[in-house]
Amino acid sequence: MIQLVDLYKEYKTKKGTVIGVDRVSLTIGKGEIFGIVGYSGAGKSSVLRCINLLEKPTSGQVSVDGVDLTTLSANGLRLARQKIGMIFQHFHLIASKTVSENVAFALKAAGMPKPRILPRVNELLDLVGLADKADQYPAQLSGGQKQRVGIARALANEPQVLLCDEPTSALDPTTTQSILALLKQINRELGLTIVLITHEMEVVKDLCHRVAIMQSGQLIEQGDVYEVFANPVQPLTKQFIQHALEFKLPQKLWDKLDPAGKVLKVLFRNDVAEQAVIYELLKGSGIRANILHGKIEYIGDRPLGTFIMEVTGDSEQIEGAVRFLKGRGCGVEVMANVD
Ligand SMILES: Nc1ncnc2c1ncn2[C@@H]1O[C@H](COP(=O)(O)OP(=O)(O)OP(=O)(O)O)[C@@H](O)[C@H]1O
Ligand SMILES: [Mg+2]
Repeated sequence: MIQLVDLYKEYKTKKGTVIGVDRVSLTIGKGEIFGIVGYSGAGKSSVLRCINLLEKPTSGQVSVDGVDLTTLSANGLRLARQKIGMIFQHFHLIASKTVSENVAFALKAAGMPKPRILPRVNELLDLVGLADKADQYPAQLSGGQKQRVGIARALANEPQVLLCDEPTSALDPTTTQSILALLKQINRELGLTIVLITHEMEVVKDLCHRVAIMQSGQLIEQGDVYEVFANPVQPLTKQFIQHALEFKLPQKLWDKLDPAGKVLKVLFRNDVAEQAVIYELLKGSGIRANILHGKIEYIGDRPLGTFIMEVTGDSEQIEGAVRFLKGRGCGVEVMANVD
C-alpha cells in the first residue's frame, strides 16, 4: 500500500543543512497498522509528512497504492491526498468552528455537494462516538474528544491510509486506551492502513502489527511487533522495549541476594511461556531459584514471559540450569553475579 524507496529529506536552515530522513526504504501492506518509533529528532514526523508529500522529499520515491506521488501534478496530488487522512498530537482543530463544522470543512474542501455533507458529518460523528457534541466548540471538549474530532475529520473523505503523528502523546493513559481502541476498530471495520508515530513502545505493543525504529534519520530495525519485542537486535530497540517490559529491582532486594548466586533474566517466547519450564528446571537440578520478578505479556495474543530469578547452587549446577533453559528455547541473560 505504501512504499518508500531510498527516501531522503534534508532541510536548508540558516545554520546549514539538516538531514531529516536518511535513505529510508519501507513497505507497508494494505490494512496493516505500522508503528514508527524513535526519540525526538529521529525523523519520524519527516517520514510521515513525506508520505502525503506535506514535506517534499529531497530524493527517493513515495508510492501510495501503486502511484509515485513525487511524479504527480499539483491537481493529481490534491486528489491523491484525499485518500490519505492525517491526525496530530495537538489535534489542529479550527477553534472558531463547531465539531460538526470542523468535519464538514474537510468535505467541502473535497468538493462534496452541500446536501450530502450533513448526513456524512453525522455518520462520522456517530462512528467516533461524538454524536452528542456536534454543536460544541473545540474549547469545550476534552483532549480525547478533540482527537475523536480529528479522527472524524481525517476519515471524512474515505481515505485508504491514516497517518497518525503521536496521536495519544497529549492524552492520559485511560483516554489513550480509548483512542487506541477506536483506531483498532477503524482498522478492522474499514480496512484502513494506519501509520502511527509514537515514542511509547506500549502503544506499539497494544496496537501495531509491525514496527520500525528510527535513529538520526535512519531506519535501524523493523519487523513484526512480537518478533521485535522477543528478539530486539539494536541497542536502541532494546532500550525502547525495556521501557515497556522491564522492571527495575529495588536496591533493597539486591542487597539481600545470596552472594553464591546469579541473577538471570529469562525470556519465555511463544508457547514456551505457557509450559512448566521453571518446574522442570528445579526438579532434580539441585539449584534453588527464587523468582524476584515476573510477568507474561500478551502481544497480539502471543505470550512473552520475562522472569528475573536468583539462582543459587554450585557453578556447574548453575551452568547446567542456563543450558537447560536455552535448550528449551528461552532467552537467558545473566544480569549479575551476586558476589
Ligand atoms: N522544517 C524544518 N526545518 C529544519 N529542520 C527540520 C524541519 N523539520 C524537521 N527538521 C529537523 O529534522 C530532524 C528530524 O525532525 P522530525 O521532526 O522529523 O523528528 P521527530 O522524530 O518527529 O521528532 P519529535 O519526536 O520531536 O517530533 C530534526 O533534526 C529536526 O530538527
Ligand atoms: Mg515529530
